[in-house]
Amino acid sequence: MKVRRLGQTFFAEVIDVDLAHLDDRAFAEIKKAHLEHGVVVFRDQELTPEQHIAFSARFGPLQVHPMMQFNLEGAPQILMVSSDRHPDGRPKGIADAGRYWHTDMSYMPEPALGSLLYARAIPDEGGDTMFCDMTAACRDLPREKREQLLNARAVHHFASRWARESKGGMRPQQTKEEQDRNPPVEHPMIRTHPDTGEPAIYAGGFVVSIKNAPEELLSWVNEWVAQPKYVYRHKWRLHDLVFWDNRRVMHHATPYPETQRRHMHRTTVKGNAPYLDRQYLARELSSTP
Ligand SMILES: [Fe+2]
Repeated sequence: MKVRRLGQTFFAEVIDVDLAHLDDRAFAEIKKAHLEHGVVVFRDQELTPEQHIAFSARFGPLQVHPMMQFNLEGAPQILMVSSDRHPDGRPKGIADAGRYWHTDMSYMPEPALGSLLYARAIPDEGGDTMFCDMTAACRDLPREKREQLLNARAVHHFASRWARESKGGMRPQQTKEEQDRNPPVEHPMIRTHPDTGEPAIYAGGFVVSIKNAPEELLSWVNEWVAQPKYVYRHKWRLHDLVFWDNRRVMHHATPYPETQRRHMHRTTVKGNAPYLDRQYLARELSSTP
């Protein structure tokens, strides 16, 4: 197995590994690379849905996406991000998923640890995924913003974001039951990574409001993290599997021509309730004159 950093501060490529047949030693190396680089892309994988699920589940329990009609029949742990349609015209998956900076399922009390997106069909052009390193962006925060973010809490809400996206016409509207399934949740805007101990900014497109800080902090954060030095743009190859750490990075899908096909399978590993290490907070605030 070879691991090679592609981004400036994060994002690595892993080659010469077969995720369908992985011994414990190789798995431990992968786990280490994922924590170190935040995002890893495994090239040239041949995975059935069962193998994709089995590999993902080695990292923890899987989360089933709340929009059940877009999950694979018989294997609801797989969400389809796809331009494909059923014979009756209904979309098979979410074709326009995540075309804004976000971290997956941040609207849950215990959001995703990581997402594993596997490319089964890709367009000739477009459909890239951008990632940004929220740990590096957090490290460089100007003192005043850091202080604001340390005290701030963000309210995340799935239905609000879905309603905004479905106005574009590519998505069905949510039923009342779907809207009520995920009530708004509150998370700190800087969270401590449970495995590395590193703080990272935590925000993204499911945030509807913030508490204990000026509202304009949100748009400031979105611009701050999207600076080119924090961003890596991934151009998909067929049979790439990209595994990102939702506790460290945000991601942003880009469009592709409607005449082209893009078909991806995603699994999502459940994570912890975001928290901020209080000792870290006390230290940071006391070092602020
Ligand atoms: Fe996403």
